[in-house]
Amino acid sequence: MNIKWYNSRFDMYLDFPKNGVGLECGVGKGINSAQLVMTAKPKVLHLVDKWELYHMSLFAISSENELWELNEPTYEEYIERLFAKEIAEKKVVPHKKDVFEFLAGIPDNFFDWAYVDDRHTYQHVKKELYEIIRVVKPNGIVAGHDFRILRQGWGLGPVAAVLEHVQEGSLEILGLSQEEWPSFMCKVKK
Ligand SMILES: C[S@@+](CC[C@H](N)C(=O)[O-])C[C@H]1O[C@@H](n2cnc3c(N)ncnc32)[C@H](O)[C@@H]1O
Repeated sequence: MNIKWYNSRFDMYLDFPKNGVGLECGVGKGINSAQLVMTAKPKVLHLVDKWELYHMSLFAISSENELWELNEPTYEEYIERLFAKEIAEKKVVPHKKDVFEFLAGIPDNFFDWAYVDDRHTYQHVKKELYEIIRVVKPNGIVAGHDFRILRQGWGLGPVAAVLEHVQEGSLEILGLSQEEWPSFMCKVKK
């Protein structure tokens, strides 16, 4: 089967099943979540993030070496503002949790698709994909960001982890995005 080449991950989302139950692991400010809502058009989108790494950005050092408290919202507040209507309608559901803690509470075959973009170390992604494959329906979509080697960072991380799941027979690669920071898209086989 041929691997489909996408110009960007946003084009890839056009091929996600519509009106499904979706999951994004690793959300940050929700820029990608907004694209997922617009393009993949989920019935419900669950957003999981610890939202704890970026709170330092609420402070800045001025050129006079003073500590300024920036009047910026926290990343969770970004999400609450960005998706105020969708959260009220229960179409977007944020979960401030560690991904493994969240996934442990989810029954098998719950999601139609999932997009993973939290930690990129090999051990983390390999273990996370076992859980993600468990919670995504057969023939559902497992996609994720940063399918590339980063020598000064995670090394082969997501690339090795995804390819090992392909070798184990639980994922089939459907597409890749042609970006500096590529995304992968796979079908769940079980
Ligand atoms: C690269 S950002 C996500 C960016 C987003 N997907 C986008 O494309 O705009 C990674 C996020 O993963 C979150 N994260 C990292 N490890 C996590 C974990 N174990 N559980 C939950 N969230 C985690 C971080 O808090 C951070 O917000």
